[in-house]
Amino acid sequence: MSSIDATIGRLPKAELHIHIEGSLEPELMFALARRNSVRLAYDSVEALRRAYAFTNLQDFLDLYYQGMSVLLREVDFYDLAMAYFRKAASQNVRYVEFFFDPQGHTARGVPFGTVMAGLSRAQADAEAQLGITSRMIMCFLRHLDEADAERTLDQALKYKDKITGVGLDSSENGHPPAKFKTVFRRARDAGFLLVAHAGEEGPPDYVWEAIDVLGVDRIDHGNRSLEDAALVKRIAADGLALTVCPLSNLRLCGVKDMKDHPLRRMLDAGLKVTINSDDPAYFGGYMNENFASVGAALGLSAEELTAVARNGFDASFMAAPAKQAALSAFDLAIRSSTA
Ligand code: ADE
Ligand code: ZN
Repeated sequence: MSSIDATIGRLPKAELHIHIEGSLEPELMFALARRNSVRLAYDSVEALRRAYAFTNLQDFLDLYYQGMSVLLREVDFYDLAMAYFRKAASQNVRYVEFFFDPQGHTARGVPFGTVMAGLSRAQADAEAQLGITSRMIMCFLRHLDEADAERTLDQALKYKDKITGVGLDSSENGHPPAKFKTVFRRARDAGFLLVAHAGEEGPPDYVWEAIDVLGVDRIDHGNRSLEDAALVKRIAADGLALTVCPLSNLRLCGVKDMKDHPLRRMLDAGLKVTINSDDPAYFGGYMNENFASVGAALGLSAEELTAVARNGFDASFMAAPAKQAALSAFDLAIRSSTA
């Protein structure tokens, strides 16, 4: 292992952009398919992995929604989330804000409450057994209409104490943030924090809309913001963080080569950048692999990688006292590892 990889491994990390359904590894997918008597379109783990050759976001989403079909019962959601938490803990991830896609489940007849019960039981066990704290962010699927998102928000209100934020994901092109203006306003009024995927494949205008129309507290991806100097200035001035996902961008062909990844330019522009895994089971790596891959390609120093890891805690939705404590613990860990 190179010394920079060892440094990355030791860094305390916060993950702010992980779709829990995107952490479903093929082995677990097949195990759950057997347990639930679900037929998959592939006859082996190897055949499924071979299909993970994507040319754009939609290619991936088609397999992602198929993969979810094995998640039926409370224990399936529990096992899914616990497998992710164990992996995250092994990489020194201390804090997680994970997305889930309720409409991907309720549309298949799985009750909202079943999803919530399994995920929240895993959160409690991850905290008790692994020392990882976490929060949930519920995403609306943007390829569906706003009325569907409204019904999903209605269901979520009952779980307000368990869900920190509301987000927007799925097929970006053709589904601008403004399509969800009313439901985001309602979510804000109900006390949810707001995020949205924007500028992953979609144009800078979608990032403007996420900021000005939805009023997001953080931007997921945001890569294409760099095409618009005024937008970059605005994001920097507002101190809005970007949750960047390097291996996802490579696998979905948003960047041709990791050496072209915009993260260096984002840092140079003074943006608050975090590194995250997005859908690690599909994109070839969890947090450490994302740090290592983009770090090596862009020649990021240990100090730069440390600053980005610290941004993960700083840009989180922790309450202020917990955030202060997490940042102090982070600084102490860095001081003692470099002493
Ligand atoms: N859902 C899961 N992963 C996603 C991504 N990278 N972009 C949009 N929607 C998603
Ligand atoms: Zn994402």
